Amino acid sequence: MSSSDAIGVFDSGLGGLSAVKEFLRVLPAEKIVYFGDTGRVPYGTRSRDTIRKYAVQDTAFLRTHNVKMIVAACGTVSSVAGDLLRETLPVPYTGVVNPTAYTAVRVTKNRKIGVIGTAATVSSHSYKLRLEKLMPGVQVFEHACPLFVPLVENGIIDRNDEITKAVVARYLKPLRESGVDTLILGCTHFPLLREAVSDYMGEGVTLIDSGLETALYAAKVLSEQGLLNPSPVPRSPEFYVSDTPDGFKAVAELFLGRDMEHTVTQIDIEQY
Ligand code: DGL
Repeated sequence: MSSSDAIGVFDSGLGGLSAVKEFLRVLPAEKIVYFGDTGRVPYGTRSRDTIRKYAVQDTAFLRTHNVKMIVAACGTVSSVAGDLLRETLPVPYTGVVNPTAYTAVRVTKNRKIGVIGTAATVSSHSYKLRLEKLMPGVQVFEHACPLFVPLVENGIIDRNDEITKAVVARYLKPLRESGVDTLILGCTHFPLLREAVSDYMGEGVTLIDSGLETALYAAKVLSEQGLLNPSPVPRSPEFYVSDTPDGFKAVAELFLGRDMEHTVTQIDIEQY
């Protein structure tokens, strides 16, 4: 393993690009190899066994690129397969749950934290269990928001859009009523709905975005292990998907917040 090797980042689809956006900001000199399992998305509605099998295949593909670290930029994989990946991968691994939970306990003042994610993430109670370990006595309010994923994938994210506002209100009403002062966006699709969520929850609620916290955590791990790339020259990411790359550019721009030089290649993930 060498410091110039890439960081492998993956997600069930393109949501993980919201984390890549933060990696490019925090670690511009690192090469990012991203895999989005667009042929099998969504993971959030599938069984534990299926999600774990997919996660093993996704990381096996990334390992063919000699990556020095693997990041599951997916709340669902981190929640359901994080233990398996941490135990079996021969390179440093992080998901999004732990870095995000650390930040949430530092931020909350009233010890009431909300968590939103996919159905699989919420039913695993991954965030709740982690938060309770880090802050005994914390009150955690979890809510699955499955319709947020297709809203984001279809670009229905404008804070003034009536459909966006209605879905946000429908899901978040109980969380607003519970008086949380901190809300974890526990799915990497959700930062794209940040404005609409913030409008509904109000200024007093701090939203925690898993992408930024995970990028900062990865930087810390690489630095501790002497694996940060010493060169200051920015490097362009490489993207791989398991379904057609047609239309990737437009969606990638939405998630990355900018147009950027990149390559995108379709692979057969069932081979791994
Ligand atoms: N990006 C995935 C996550 O963070 C959600 C999409 C899915 O259900 O696969 O959980």
